[in-house]
Amino acid sequence: MVTVFIPKETAEGETRVAATPATVKRLVQNQFTVLIETHAGEKAFLNDSAYQAEGATIVGSAAEGFGQADLVAMVNTPTTDQVHQMKSGATIISFIYAVRSHDLVNTLKDKGINAYAMDSIPRISRAQKLDALSSQSNLAGYKAVLLAAAELPKIFPLLMTAAGTIRPAKVVIMGAGVAGLQAIATAKRLGAVVEVSDIRPAVKEQVQSLGATYIEVPSEENLETEGGYAKEASEAFLKKQAEVTRAHLVDADVIITTALIPGKPAPVLVKEDVVKDMRDGSVIVDLAAEQGGNCELTEKGQTVERHGVKIMGILNLPGTLPLNASEIYAKNILNVIEDNLNKEKQFNWNFEDEIVDQAMVVYQGDIRHAPTREAMGLGPLEKPAMAASGGNN
Ligand code: NAI
Repeated sequence: MVTVFIPKETAEGETRVAATPATVKRLVQNQFTVLIETHAGEKAFLNDSAYQAEGATIVGSAAEGFGQADLVAMVNTPTTDQVHQMKSGATIISFIYAVRSHDLVNTLKDKGINAYAMDSIPRISRAQKLDALSSQSNLAGYKAVLLAAAELPKIFPLLMTAAGTIRPAKVVIMGAGVAGLQAIATAKRLGAVVEVSDIRPAVKEQVQSLGATYIEVPSEENLETEGGYAKEASEAFLKKQAEVTRAHLVDADVIITTALIPGKPAPVLVKEDVVKDMRDGSVIVDLAAEQGGNCELTEKGQTVERHGVKIMGILNLPGTLPLNASEIYAKNILNVIEDNLNKEKQFNWNFEDEIVDQAMVVYQGDIRHAPTREAMGLGPLEKPAMAASGGNN
């Protein structure tokens, strides 16, 4: 029997958990032994007895669970201490961010712990049900708009009253990936007028279909990778974009920024001179704060007031919605595991599947993730395909 362990998250302020009673039920039905660290779901309002009722065993300490597990599923990147508590040959499934976590990657390699990175799942249609970046960004986009609406000294919708007409708020969204599209939909539902800038050509139609206006930046550059991500734009493009968007940004009541380039610092799209010219009382919510921020004045994890504008660099917005965030993250994890059940319902990582091939960043002592190898100054991996490797975890 394969043993899955769900620890209580230890990152400061984390509220989410990687399993719910519903996903435990499915794992138990699939013959997994499920261990949950006591109080693991507490901050998501899921108590030990709810997990027990679906067949989980509650363990009193993290060390006990890590020491027995074949699979560990968690949200945040594990600490090296946690990795040291695991048995050699076990696999951890969580956000890893291998490109920037060199010490962790080396510890995983040296300890013979495998790492399936939720942040390295390819963005293909088949992988959508496993895609935790999307599931969490979706919630972040929604919550960013609500936070802005609560801080703004005015309402979002057009309101016609006997005493006069209140004009709708104007929201500008920079970056319309998963979080940005959800922010557009949420701001529209609240009645705001929404304008959007992105750099990938495919976005224009998506933005317009949500009833928002797309701010066109004329360019000959191809700014989309084959995988559907944004490429780093040239200085010339960013300058042009700043010129074209300036009037829209300055006139906004709310700016929500979500623009990211995978593996790079966030592009700075709202400079101090723009903030200076915005109306007092306006609000900026910077969802890129973790990667350095899209606004020049953002302070990571802080809400600050600059030139009369409130700038929110809040981190881990999905963590402010622990119920839903855990519910869908746990489903993503369950889908990762169930995708690797063979015809006989036995668990086996299937390296012939490109999802496993790309997401398994460390396996049996090999650092397999090419961008991480490059960032660590390692050459290409000499050992060829993992397709032949079996093993239970
Ligand atoms: P992301 O979080 O990496 O970036 C957010 C947005 O910022 C992107 O739309 C990007 O184009 C934009 N951006 C970058 N530089 C910018 C700039 N200078 N100005 C304005 N915007 C800028 O992207 P996310 O949300 O992870 O997804 C990107 C796309 O990937 C999706 O829209 C979709 O096409 C694709 N995707 C596919 C999935 C699948 O098929 N499994 C799942 C999720 C996403």
